[in-house]
Amino acid sequence: MKMWDGRFTKPSDSLMERFQNSLFFDQALIDEDIAGSIAWAGALERIGIFTRKESETVQAALAAIGKDYHRRKVTFSPHDEDIHMAIERLLSERVGDAGARLHTGRSRNDQAATDLRLFVRKRLIDLQNEVTELQRALVARAETDGDVIMPGFTHLQQAQPILLAHYWLSFFFLLERDKGRITNAVVAADMLPLGSGAIAGSGFDIDRVRLAETLGFTNVSDNSIDAVASRDYVLEALAACASLGIGMSRYAEDLIIFSSHEFGFVEVDDAWSTGSSMMPQKKNPDSLELIRGKCGRFIGNYARMAATLKGVGLAYYKDLQEDKEPLFDSVAQMEMALQVFTRVIATLSIRKERITTDLHPFLLATDLADYLVRKGMPFRQAHQTTGRIVGHCIERNIALTSLTVDELRGFSDLFSDDAMKLFSWEGAIAGRNVRGGTGRTSVKAQIRRAKKLIRTGQ
Ligand code: ARG
Repeated sequence: MKMWDGRFTKPSDSLMERFQNSLFFDQALIDEDIAGSIAWAGALERIGIFTRKESETVQAALAAIGKDYHRRKVTFSPHDEDIHMAIERLLSERVGDAGARLHTGRSRNDQAATDLRLFVRKRLIDLQNEVTELQRALVARAETDGDVIMPGFTHLQQAQPILLAHYWLSFFFLLERDKGRITNAVVAADMLPLGSGAIAGSGFDIDRVRLAETLGFTNVSDNSIDAVASRDYVLEALAACASLGIGMSRYAEDLIIFSSHEFGFVEVDDAWSTGSSMMPQKKNPDSLELIRGKCGRFIGNYARMAATLKGVGLAYYKDLQEDKEPLFDSVAQMEMALQVFTRVIATLSIRKERITTDLHPFLLATDLADYLVRKGMPFRQAHQTTGRIVGHCIERNIALTSLTVDELRGFSDLFSDDAMKLFSWEGAIAGRNVRGGTGRTSVKAQIRRAKKLIRTGQ
């Protein structure tokens, strides 16, 4: 027997039962569902549907079902089609008649929407805290690796010397924007749908403002159709996970390359690597590969939800039951990915010697061109002249830094003794204290800014 089968003349086909069953995944919403129902019981009491006593009994029984569930003491029936029905059945079994009154003025449409908004709000705030942990690990790295100068790459070709700390902080600031995207999703979710009924608004004059306060929502939905139909906040949560995942994937990709034998810049700690079943010498950065690999899910889950939503008219259609799995998957996987990345970063070994010896003298070519500009040459001409110097070095197979002032003067008489100062990594770094640059003063300022963001959020 179903709770809704009064008008039916025969039961659902068993395949249909299996097809529509969502309990195996939506039981993840049990805490939210119980919180929503406890609040609803209070609201019904205030309008006289429940006596004080009944409301207390119902609320206590709901809380007990939640506890029992987490102690694995609850048995579901194959006829429980979703978590909402399962809890209502369990409640009625435990408290009898009062349980059968709980669904007064409520629909699973506003109930499911309420659960999901509570879930998004809670779990996204948790994710945001995990992002902050990753940011802390990056700032700690920026401080420990403060003296390491590395080649900065564009097109995976050595471009200019940068501080490794500057590289770590680039990830910090990307994450800061992703936290902003998570906040937007939390704000979008922060609206109470309960009291909207199936589509037209509850037929009972519920104090929805009080209900919102009880459940911790800042806003109450203004329109019951919008309240039961909208899933934009799910999409926004998934978009935030996709964006965060894409950023994490790019840094994972870099670190995978940096940890290869050919680069040898970093080594992933044993605890975050795995071996090969065949090649005994192998140590693979699987943690980073999985962070990159799981990004496919984050993008896929967003696309999946967007595709589901685009054809669904107003208000509730069963299609909307498909909103949960992509959301649960992205949130659970992102939580792990963030925790793993935090620990991988914190335990990474940095091969300072290897990084420094890999710096190619040509990385200083831009500084050479800038020198000529400071002496009065237009930049385009300075670029040409420096290009010729580079060509000269390649042809003779000599290092840029081995050129003497006299040799440099062969290309432009603007060169004088002070040009020799250009041939130093420290010099190149020191010349970039422009705000946001890789100079040490600038990087220190970035660290201060990062710490303030972690401390105060602004
Ligand atoms: N399990 C459903 C969902 O997650 C609950 C809402 C069902 N509402 C309905 N009218 N069938 O979407």
